[in-house]
Amino acid sequence: MPPSAKDGPILRVQGVRKSFDGREILSGIDLEVMPGETMVIMGGSGSGKSTMLRCMIGSLPTTAGSIEVFGQNICGLNEEALNKVRLKFGILFQSGALFNSMTVAENVALPLQEHTRLSQEIIDIQVKIKLEQVQLREAADLYPAQISGGMKKRAGLARAMALDPQLLFCDEPSAGLDPITSAQIDRLLLDLTKKLGIACVVVTHEMDSAFAIADRMAMLDKGRMLAVEPKAWFERVRDVPDAEVKLLSEDEQIIHQFLRGAAEGPLSERQSESDWEQDILGARPRVPGVRSVEASRIVPKTEDESVLTRLRRILRA
Ligand SMILES: Nc1ncnc2c1ncn2[C@@H]1O[C@H](COP(=O)(O)OP(=O)(O)O)[C@@H](O)[C@H]1O
Ligand SMILES: [Mg+2]
Repeated sequence: MPPSAKDGPILRVQGVRKSFDGREILSGIDLEVMPGETMVIMGGSGSGKSTMLRCMIGSLPTTAGSIEVFGQNICGLNEEALNKVRLKFGILFQSGALFNSMTVAENVALPLQEHTRLSQEIIDIQVKIKLEQVQLREAADLYPAQISGGMKKRAGLARAMALDPQLLFCDEPSAGLDPITSAQIDRLLLDLTKKLGIACVVVTHEMDSAFAIADRMAMLDKGRMLAVEPKAWFERVRDVPDAEVKLLSEDEQIIHQFLRGAAEGPLSERQSESDWEQDILGARPRVPGVRSVEASRIVPKTEDESVLTRLRRILRA
């Protein structure tokens, strides 16, 4: 029986902190994911999404807090125990992370060969089923270098699902793809996880993708969770007219600006206050802030205004 809501969360993150060289990147994160639900973790680049994902899959030790996967706290587990837990979830890496020297079919077969005692004949059938599920059977004998970016993602997804996980982690599933291919990957992810009842934790900065696949969403900003709410809540915040934004709380205003990919708002003020000089002089690459956020395909960008704001600031200085 696959786990259901009455079994409690499939993933429970409590008070997780993570520092690198004394610099805190995650400042006490709480998050619960229920069986079968898709949780999208959003945030601008540098907000800590990948760090959080790496903590959740046990590839990065946390500084404090606990992460329970299928009821088991993975913090402090040794590599052998971790590998046992890892068999129960799938991971779709940003680039697909396929082995270039193996065909698509061989890549998908790998987890089955390493972690099951199935005969090669059964494995071949399983691989065909997985490739069919991601609509990639015709590419079974091709090498990663011979297929497109979207096909690599699908092959990565087939491999992540090889051991029939109940939980799937995805890092930026549509990154680097054109809008149509990325919408197709979103649709595939949604179809598969819903059909098979798989819980899915997706990290992304792409708003269209986030709204397409999420049941609930979590907004990460500078290592802090601003909100964990159903998708409809985020839609309501996004759709608040600019004239009424001042009625929102401070965190909601940040979320509003992020969701609309707007150039004006608390995110950019914060950025220009701390970074404007380096920004203008190009002394270092931009890190967090709205400029790193990909604007939604439906909201027009207002780049010029933010340049103006910055210029005014320089003139005042
Ligand atoms: N291994 C590391 N060592 C030091 N700093 C790191 C390391 N990994 C990430 N960081 C820092 O943590 C912050 C968050 O990074 P990351 O989690 O990759 O953000 P995101 O995925 O949201 O873009 C960044 O400032 C980044 O430079
Ligand atoms: Mg990242």
